[in-house]
Amino acid sequence: MIKLLLEITDLAVEVSGKEVLTDVDLYIDKGETHVLLGPNGAGKSTLFMTLLGFPKYKVTRGEILFKGENITNYSTTDRVRMGIGVSFQNPPAIRGVRLEDILKVESGADEDAEELDPEVMELVHKLKFDEKFLDRDVNLGFSGGEVKRSEILQLLAQKPDFIMFDEPDSGVDIENVELLAEQINILLEKDKKIGMREKSGLLITHLGYILNFVIADTAHVLMDGKIACSGNPAEILDDIRKEGFKGCVQCCKVH
Ligand SMILES: Nc1ncnc2c1ncn2[C@@H]1O[C@H](COP(=O)(O)OP(=O)(O)OP(=O)(O)O)[C@@H](O)[C@H]1O
Ligand SMILES: [Mg+2]
Repeated sequence: MIKLLLEITDLAVEVSGKEVLTDVDLYIDKGETHVLLGPNGAGKSTLFMTLLGFPKYKVTRGEILFKGENITNYSTTDRVRMGIGVSFQNPPAIRGVRLEDILKVESGADEDAEELDPEVMELVHKLKFDEKFLDRDVNLGFSGGEVKRSEILQLLAQKPDFIMFDEPDSGVDIENVELLAEQINILLEKDKKIGMREKSGLLITHLGYILNFVIADTAHVLMDGKIACSGNPAEILDDIRKEGFKGCVQCCKVH
C-alpha cells in the first residue's frame, strides 16, 4: 500500500480542559499543498500546534501518521527532525538568540562556524534583509512583516519535507505578501511538475488572499473543531466570499 505523507485520523484534541478539535480527518500526500480555512476560533492554530507536538495540546482520540510512522506521542524535536517545519502565526521573541545563530542551526552548519553558508546568505538578501539584521535577537522588536519574512527565511534554510504556515499573510502589506508567496512556492517546489514534487504544505489562512499567488491542490474548512468540507480551493473560496462561513454551517450539519 502506498503511504501518504501525513494521515490524520479521527483526531480529537483538548486544550486546558476544553475539547477544541473533534473528529478531524486529513490526508496529505507527497507534493500536495492543502489549505485550511475557517473563522476565528475554529481551531486552525490548535491543529497546527498539535501537529507540531506542543504538550499543552492533548490528543484524546485518533492518531497522526507522518511518513507512515505514528508520531502522535512524539516530541516536537523528533517531529522537526523527521522533516516537519513551521511558520508560526505569532512566533515568540527569543532574547539572546541572534537570527544568524538560529539560521546556522537550521541550515545544519556548526554553531561556531564563522559565517553563514553562502546559499543561506543569498536567501537573506532575497528576503530583503541586510547583514546587520542578522545580529538582532530573533523576533525581538521585529515589525509584523519582518517576523513573517524571517519565518520563511528560516524554513528556506531548514528545507523541511512538510511545512505548515499559520496565516503567513496576516499583517503583511501587498508587496510583501507577493514576496512571501514567491518563497513559499519555492519551498513547495511549485517550479517542478506536479508528479515531481516531494514537498508538501498546509497553509492556514482565513482571508485566502495569499491564494492569489500560491496554488493549492485542496482546501478544507474547519468549523467548530470539525472539517465542514473539503474540495477545490477556488470553488470553496468563492462560496465563502458569497455566503461567508455561515454557509459552511449547513454543510457541517450534513457531515
Ligand atoms: N491555551 C488555550 N487555553 C484555552 N483555550 C484555548 C487555548 N488555545 C486555544 N484555545 C481555544 O481554542 C479555540 C480555537 O482556537 P485557535 O487558536 O485554534 O483558533 P483559530 O482557528 O486559529 O483562530 P484565528 O483565526 O483567530 O487564529 C478558541 O476558542 C481558543 O480560545
Ligand atoms: Mg489561529
